[in-house]
Amino acid sequence: MNILLLGKTGQVGFELHRTLAPLGTITAPDRTELDLMNPQAVADYLEAHQPDLIANAAAYTAVDAAEEHQAEANQLNAALPEQLARYAEANTIRLIHYSSDYVYPGNGDETWTESSPTDPLSVYGTSKLAGDQAIQNSGAEHLIFRTSWVYSARGNNFMKTMLRLARDKTELNIVADQIGAPTPARLIAQITSMAIQTNIPSGLYHLVPSGETSWHGFAQKIFRLSGHSVKANPIQTSAYPTPAKRPLNSRVNTAKLEGALNIQLPTWQSQLELTLSEYLNK
Ligand SMILES: NC(=O)c1ccc[n+]([C@@H]2O[C@H](COP(=O)([O-])OP(=O)(O)OC[C@H]3O[C@@H](n4cnc5c(N)ncnc54)[C@H](OP(=O)(O)O)[C@@H]3O)[C@@H](O)[C@H]2O)c1
Repeated sequence: MNILLLGKTGQVGFELHRTLAPLGTITAPDRTELDLMNPQAVADYLEAHQPDLIANAAAYTAVDAAEEHQAEANQLNAALPEQLARYAEANTIRLIHYSSDYVYPGNGDETWTESSPTDPLSVYGTSKLAGDQAIQNSGAEHLIFRTSWVYSARGNNFMKTMLRLARDKTELNIVADQIGAPTPARLIAQITSMAIQTNIPSGLYHLVPSGETSWHGFAQKIFRLSGHSVKANPIQTSAYPTPAKRPLNSRVNTAKLEGALNIQLPTWQSQLELTLSEYLNK
């Protein structure tokens, strides 16, 4: 199987590159080899490489910057997935794509299911939703995995920021009223590989570990497991204004994915232990 992987330098893309390796031959252009902002370059690349499967982990993920760079966010997060889906449909191949809980309105305290109404709060969320809908409407075989709070031993993420700050701070204010599930990029890649191998039905799936926490709870666990004695003060989102509005409720239900794979997803705490030890031991 010839797998085209987009976004291999990102958190999820890096993990996919090695996790999918046993499944076939991976072609994974970085941005110097293929500029994903250029639709003609993408079309030419697809034509030249004729993949049997496309895994798209590329995205415009700078949530705050997206508020001012709407055109770029839409190109990467909406127009690119639409182009890939059209190609997948025309060539009868499967497209794997990643999305975000930021497509939901983020209010209340119910857990979102795949059929919950969407209503993004930000340019980023709106662009991700447009990408999901374009894929769903394309008629292509697809797997869209909506995930949240992605982190890993590589790249820029909350876990690494907390560890860096813990080196010279004794006290930190951390948002405690946004609730979700921190998701390691490696878990996303491992589940993607299982989904390909077991050929789960085309569709949209939530993919996060089990359990829930706040950024404050996540930070406390990071400090405890890494042996830092930082005092974490809980604060409200309103005390930490950002250009893009964040959902307070990022709880997503994963029953559909667990049913399709016949597994129980691991807890976010056990996943943090694994990711932290990978980072601290490397
Ligand atoms: N991060 C999160 O918290 C989060 C939460 C929910 C969902 N997601 C979704 O999960 C997926 C993976 O996220 P991630 O955190 O792994 O993203 P990431 O680390 O920001 O990686 C994004 C990837 O896209 C590539 N890219 C961006 N613009 C490009 C361009 N013009 N040409 C070529 N490549 C380009 C980047 O390349 P460079 O390295 O060269 O920039 C990088 O490889 C995305 O669909 C994202 O929306 C992420």
